[in-house]
Order: sequence, then C-alpha cells, then structure tokens
Amino acid sequence: MTQRPRPLVAGNWKMNGLRDSLGEVSSICAAVARDGAGTAEIVICPPATLLMAAAAISEGSPVALGGQDCHNEPSGPYTGDISAEMLRDAGAAYVIVGHSERRSGYNEGNASVHEKAAAAFRAGLTAIVCVGETKAEREAGDALTVVGSQLAGSIPKISSAESIVIAYEPVWAIGSGLTPAPQDIADMHGFIRGRANQHLPGQGAQLRILYGGSVKPTNAAQLLGIKDVDGALVGGASLSSAEFMAIARIYR
Ligand code: 13P
Repeated sequence: MTQRPRPLVAGNWKMNGLRDSLGEVSSICAAVARDGAGTAEIVICPPATLLMAAAAISEGSPVALGGQDCHNEPSGPYTGDISAEMLRDAGAAYVIVGHSERRSGYNEGNASVHEKAAAAFRAGLTAIVCVGETKAEREAGDALTVVGSQLAGSIPKISSAESIVIAYEPVWAIGSGLTPAPQDIADMHGFIRGRANQHLPGQGAQLRILYGGSVKPTNAAQLLGIKDVDGALVGGASLSSAEFMAIARIYR
C-alpha cells in the first residue's frame, strides 16, 4: 500500500493581525512544544508585516510560516509587491498562491498563478495552490471542469509532490459557514489526485490536497476524515490559537 502523505494544517490569517496577534503564534508554538502537533505539519500564514516577528517566535519550533501571495519576479520595480525570495528571507517556508480572493479581487488568472507557483519553487518555498468553483459553477454541474482547468493552468511542470500543495476551496464555502457534502469533497479530492498524477506522473499519491472553506473545530473531524483529504487550509478559525489547535489535533 502506498504511504499517505503527512497531513498539513495551515492557517491563512488573510488581512488580519497587528503585533498584538503575535501572541497567537506564541500560543501555537507553545501548544506544539507541550503536546506535539500529532501527526500534522502546522503552518501559519500571517500578513507579511508580521512574518519576521513570527519567525523570531517560531525559531526552533516545528511550526512553519507562509506568505499569502507573491510576485513572480525575484525583485524589481513592482511597487507594493513582495517576492517569493523576500518571503523566504523573512522566514517563510510556504506561500499561498491563487487564493480565490486574489483570483477574483485582483483578476489573477491561471497563467499568473502558474508564474507565482514557479517563483515559489525558484525561491525554495512550497506553493499552496488554491483552486475551487463558485456556487454558480457548482450548480451548473461544472465544478470538476472548472477545477480541472485551474489545475492544468496553475501547476508548473517543474513541481514535485514535495514542492507543491493543492488546496481545494470552493469559493461559496469560504467564510460562509457552508461546506460541500462529504461525498462532493471526496469526489473532488479524488479527481484532483487523478489529475495531479497526470501533471506529476506517478506522484499523485504523495501530493497533499487540503480542503478549505468554513473549517471549524466543530466540523473538522468529519471534514478531515474524508477520503483523499490530507489536511485543511483554515481562514477565520486560524485567528484563534485555541480553535486552530483544536482543528490540528484531529490528527492526534
Ligand atoms: P474560512 O475558513 O474563513 O472559510 O476561510 C477559508 C479560506 O479562505 C482559507 O484560505
């Protein structure tokens, strides 16, 4: 039997968090040091302004950090942007790319997400590539087609199962309290693994495929127990170390 990949529970703080919030990073590191994280790898993606301070706190801890987006170039005249190299320099090991809030709010298409994922690879970061359908696309029966073309367009050929993570985040489940039916999640994750096996031949089984969208301590056991779900990308509930760790501890 093929060995399952190590689960990953990642917190995406989005545009939340001032220096006061660094206490949550300390609490997560302390909880992991005290109880262990179970079998899951833990990643916190705070806003870029907090990365260096968070890195100082998490130094020596197995808790890893990630950025929430990156530019595809290593440096240059791109006012306001942050490169994958800069994130790495600040202490990140991961970067989220292609989150639906960036796809819709900043018109990021698959080609742009592909370039960002390649930039992450160049900088030695693991890219967490987000895919997911809108409510209208699901209702039209197009969820698999939409996610299939996002995968085809967004994953660089240079990737390996270790250098990339896929997060399936149905747009309509983000921040809404809604989640897809367990069978729909299982179908989508199985579909993603099959497609990944074509993009990264023979590596599909090792790829980590996270579910994201309204993951809470109350539904985490059910969601993380679904076939082909290798962890979670958590938004709102990751802002509280207690809630975030309650989700991560499902993997005890
Ligand atoms: P919520 O967990 O707040 O629904 O957000 C999910 C998400 O967008 C994580 O990237």
